[in-house]
Amino acid sequence: MMLAPIDRLSLLSSAQADALRARLVEVAYDERAIARGESIAPGLFDALRLPLVHDALSLDDAPASDLALLFAYMGRVSLERFERALTPALSALALELGLVTRGDDGSVASPFLLMPFMGLWIISDPLSQDGDAVMGPGPTTHELARLLPARTPRSVLDVGCGAGTFALLAADRGSAEAVGVDINPRAVELARINARLNGLSAEFLAGDLFAPVEGRRFDLVISQPPFVARAPEVDAAVFLHGGTYGDELALSLIARCPRVLLPTGRALMLLDAPVRPGAPLHLRLREALGDAPVDVAVFSTPGMSPDLMAVGYTARSLESLEGYAATVRRYRHHLRALGVTEFSHAIVLLLPPGGRFSISLPVRSLSALDGEAIERWCDAIDLASRDPDTLLAATVRPAPGLVFAEERATPDRSVEPTWRVRSERGVAVSRELSEASWALLEAIATQETVAGAVEVYAELCGASAEDVREQVLGFVREHLAKGLLAWERGGASG
Ligand SMILES: C[S@@+](CC[C@H](N)C(=O)[O-])C[C@H]1O[C@@H](n2cnc3c(N)ncnc32)[C@H](O)[C@@H]1O
Repeated sequence: MMLAPIDRLSLLSSAQADALRARLVEVAYDERAIARGESIAPGLFDALRLPLVHDALSLDDAPASDLALLFAYMGRVSLERFERALTPALSALALELGLVTRGDDGSVASPFLLMPFMGLWIISDPLSQDGDAVMGPGPTTHELARLLPARTPRSVLDVGCGAGTFALLAADRGSAEAVGVDINPRAVELARINARLNGLSAEFLAGDLFAPVEGRRFDLVISQPPFVARAPEVDAAVFLHGGTYGDELALSLIARCPRVLLPTGRALMLLDAPVRPGAPLHLRLREALGDAPVDVAVFSTPGMSPDLMAVGYTARSLESLEGYAATVRRYRHHLRALGVTEFSHAIVLLLPPGGRFSISLPVRSLSALDGEAIERWCDAIDLASRDPDTLLAATVRPAPGLVFAEERATPDRSVEPTWRVRSERGVAVSRELSEASWALLEAIATQETVAGAVEVYAELCGASAEDVREQVLGFVREHLAKGLLAWERGGASG
């Protein structure tokens, strides 16, 4: 299918954009309007549930449901209802700009998606199209956006910006320098249109990875690169395919990332990576980064099986069952030939000026993480790398979401208890603790400083503080790095 032309869309003026935005706010075309559609047959691929979503939204009288039908679910709406939703003047503008087109029966449809996203509206291409289609916000965009720091960094670089989503979000939250780069010139053009649509100032540049920003440095680099394994004979899509295994482009992006980071900057990326036995992602990243002075953390969740991946990759572009069987088999054969048996769905965090850590942190799902959890872990790593005196003066607590339980097999006290730590959010953990670890964690959790915990623990062991200090410091550093302990900055050491 041909991509819709964007030359007329780029004629949208700032005044027209302001009027359009005001109307979208007025009729509440926001994420709640999309949630109505998403609540119908959730979890199924769009190709299977779209007829139901169309049906439900067309029976709903709210103007926002007409806009959702048209702009989020590629449905058709009568001109009358479209004019009621957008006003006759703005409907005429949408037709003039090619944002919607009229069919033979007089109804309107849109060749674009126009999605509400965290207070913004983003125009992009439907992903049923291959080639140069431009990706807008989807479920994985949401997963990564939730991890943005609450305090907006001054400068943000969105690599592979697609429709410009992360750069525009940063600009909206007050970043003075919000830049997006993409190899696809159509993406850059659409991102600029989206900047105007949202009344935001951001810079969008075309080129390969960091080439367009050579010599510049940023506080935050954010990216969701294409990470799908491309099977032979499957049409290439620039927003989707990341190489034969899928993770090649992401690895090369991450390897080059340190040179665009400010000394206190960070990089945050989302990708699916095939699990390669004996070569976990965090070690492959460390190797790709060489001796670049950054710490690497991979928050990884179990991804889908190769069979489900094959279905997902294929169903994305599924408008009918025609061609499904051939394509799904191509993906499946490709993944089997590569020997991929498992995927990991991961967030990669790079932190300069490290070089000390390369760590893999299991999480049950990315929804267990948020910007605050990432921030807390960065603080923990910061403390773990400080000198012993700073560590001894710090207040350290079990990370929020951890549950420590003393478990007894019988109600009487005849059987020795076991101690277990498990997490209800954040880093996934469920393991038995030795009696010594339990006692030490209790001392850390109740004493104002780590030095206090050293004293208490020494007394319990019948040893001197000097004798146990190194052991306690090693324990604290390790558990800070694993996300089980958190630095309470407001504590004794401030
Ligand atoms: C998965 S999409 C992400 C879009 C958007 N950032 C989001 O998260 O919704 C990946 C984007 O990377 C772009 N891309 C692919 N190869 C690239 C390269 N070598 N350099 C820069 N961008 C690239 C694609 O054009 C596409 O827009």
